[in-house]
Amino acid sequence: MAQEFDPSAYGRAAADVYDEVVTHLPTEPAVDRLQELAEGRAVLEFGVGTGRLALPLAARGLTVAGIDGSAEMTAVLRAKPGGDRVPVTLGDFSTTRVDGEFGLVVLAYNTIYALPSQDAQVDCFRNAAAHLVPGGRFVVEAWVPDVGAFRHGTALRLVSLREDEVVAEAARLSPADQMMYTTKIVLASGGVRLLPANHRYAWPAELDLMARLGGMRLEHRWSDWRAAPFTGDSRGHVSVYRR
Ligand SMILES: C[S@@+](CC[C@H](N)C(=O)[O-])C[C@H]1O[C@@H](n2cnc3c(N)ncnc32)[C@H](O)[C@@H]1O
Repeated sequence: MAQEFDPSAYGRAAADVYDEVVTHLPTEPAVDRLQELAEGRAVLEFGVGTGRLALPLAARGLTVAGIDGSAEMTAVLRAKPGGDRVPVTLGDFSTTRVDGEFGLVVLAYNTIYALPSQDAQVDCFRNAAAHLVPGGRFVVEAWVPDVGAFRHGTALRLVSLREDEVVAEAARLSPADQMMYTTKIVLASGGVRLLPANHRYAWPAELDLMARLGGMRLEHRWSDWRAAPFTGDSRGHVSVYRR
């Protein structure tokens, strides 16, 4: 069932534990790749969150700004060293405009799917293009839908495993409207936390079409930030669109 969309909901539930549950992500290769794609020009991150990518990019000397729907996530970013160097505008990144022109707009870690509909995702591609200089790039990192994992409608997978913390994800698929409803289960010595998130998923070809509607073309598609080739077995992609 469709639920009312609130861009601040994810951060309200997750801000205080977010950094702990993303330690398994390949942050350094992502920052290396984004720095290369920016070619020294200003960067805007949609869904900038706690600054996992934005802060190291700013520390490397790039001008970086962000948009986020969550005051809680933004407060975590702000409290970190260098947090004052990344101005964040509070709003929905599918429609919010910020001042300035950018060489790179980034939408990482599956956050395109946080938008609740195809229309909102098309708006997001248009909004990215509106912030870019001609020739500027929009980078989208997202998983590839794996409906085969949902033979019985639901699936449970292990996200990360450490001695002091286990993160698993329970998911329910709703193929008719391309929605996946997930709850991350964080098991740690302090107790159990549940982090719900809804995803309006899309295959790469649909995202390419959205890019074309926004006046952009696919420049690269890799299966990860290290630019490994994208193949039929790839479970995720890093796609680079050019205005
Ligand atoms: C999974 S986190 C990713 C944070 C960061 N980009 C990273 O890679 O670590 C998603 C972020 O997007 C924000 N967000 C989700 N939907 C949004 C929307 N429609 N508009 C603005 N921010 C949104 C959330 O508040 C959260 O900070």
